[in-house]
Amino acid sequence: MIRAFREYLKYIPNQTKESGIYRFYNSVLRAFPPVFSKMTDTQFPDRIVESLKPEQAVFAQEVQAVKSSAYGDSTSTFDGEDSDFASSLTSVRSSLYNHVQEHGRTYHAYKDGKYVLPNDEKEQDRLDRQHQILKQHLDGQLALAPIESIQLNNVLDVATGTGLWAVEFADKYPDTNVIGTDLSPIQPDMVPPNLTFEVDDAEDEWLFRQSFDYIHLRAVVTCFANPAAVIRSAYAATTPGGYIEFQDGVFPLQYGRTPPRDSAFVRLFSLLLESAERAGRPWTIAPRYSGWLREAGFVDVTEETRRIAIGPWMEDAKSKKLGAWNMDNWVDGIRAAAPRMLDRLGWTGEDTEALLCLAVDELVQTRIRPMMDMIVVWGRKPVAEDVPEEARVQDGTEPKAV
Ligand SMILES: C[S@@+](CC[C@H](N)C(=O)[O-])C[C@H]1O[C@@H](n2cnc3c(N)ncnc32)[C@H](O)[C@@H]1O
Repeated sequence: MIRAFREYLKYIPNQTKESGIYRFYNSVLRAFPPVFSKMTDTQFPDRIVESLKPEQAVFAQEVQAVKSSAYGDSTSTFDGEDSDFASSLTSVRSSLYNHVQEHGRTYHAYKDGKYVLPNDEKEQDRLDRQHQILKQHLDGQLALAPIESIQLNNVLDVATGTGLWAVEFADKYPDTNVIGTDLSPIQPDMVPPNLTFEVDDAEDEWLFRQSFDYIHLRAVVTCFANPAAVIRSAYAATTPGGYIEFQDGVFPLQYGRTPPRDSAFVRLFSLLLESAERAGRPWTIAPRYSGWLREAGFVDVTEETRRIAIGPWMEDAKSKKLGAWNMDNWVDGIRAAAPRMLDRLGWTGEDTEALLCLAVDELVQTRIRPMMDMIVVWGRKPVAEDVPEEARVQDGTEPKAV
């Protein structure tokens, strides 16, 4: 609904980002997400006004003024579903909550085509299982950054997927406000009271009212055309002293035993990497996170790599168990990714399916032994005291973090 409101602003002439209505959006709207997520389109401008505190009355007047000037409507309700405006809003709502169907799967409709994997129940189920695998891989920890040492007022989970990480985090820290954002509205309704979800594109300008003490991004190598820009947005939105953390896969994969030269799995995975590269969202970026964090201004950047098998072929019990779960995850993962991605390379559905069958067979029969390095990298936004006194005196400017 928040995104819908932003779209709604586009239909109103003569608005700039400096105008009151934008400041209203920025400073007020995000304070009330539970209210807005329950509203119908025809209700929402008036319900926003109703929700405002007395000190926000100036913004309430601006909402009404903008509405009146744009539509010559001095009443506080819209014309109804027949008006052009109502139908514009309906299409905005549809673009958020409908799904695109292709290859027998559904995909996000908001910013259609941006993210390549489906968002249907099958994929949601996979993401939930993957959450358990990645968490167990980190010995049950949700975060490796030293967040226990700081006050966690606000936490953001960017590209939250089905939101299970955010749900568990909100449960663990009931006094922390947690927000999860994603292109797809695939998160559950029944969540802890300190958690809200928003449909949002992390590549758009970040308009959060609050700053965050911890920003978490997991399994996002597939997501951004310009990850460094997303990191810069995150830096600006981090409270000084707060942390950012990425948890992601390193590609290309490693192999425990040299795979056969004609391996279907190896061929398939290199086609997926090629397709991602061509689409301008290469999957090979995780090793660059540390550098981008430092460039953005984060300090104490720390990186850990943990290897996880894709298949139950490692010796120790934990790796064997996680490897078996992960194989299942990867079988569903390559089945989810391949149709759209090989489509882009000009493959027919039949050829893709044939290659998938062979690749899945190799995995399940453990004829190949792939493994993935998982990078966990975190950094801290500096506080004023971090910047040496001389540096501040020399150029006469404020330190970057404050
Ligand atoms: C592989 S899933 C990971 C989900 C979650 N972080 C997890 O670890 O379970 C990637 C998610 O990123 C979302 N996504 C992709 N591009 C995005 C963008 N530009 N802004 C916000 N979310 C995005 C997708 O919709 C998908 O739910």
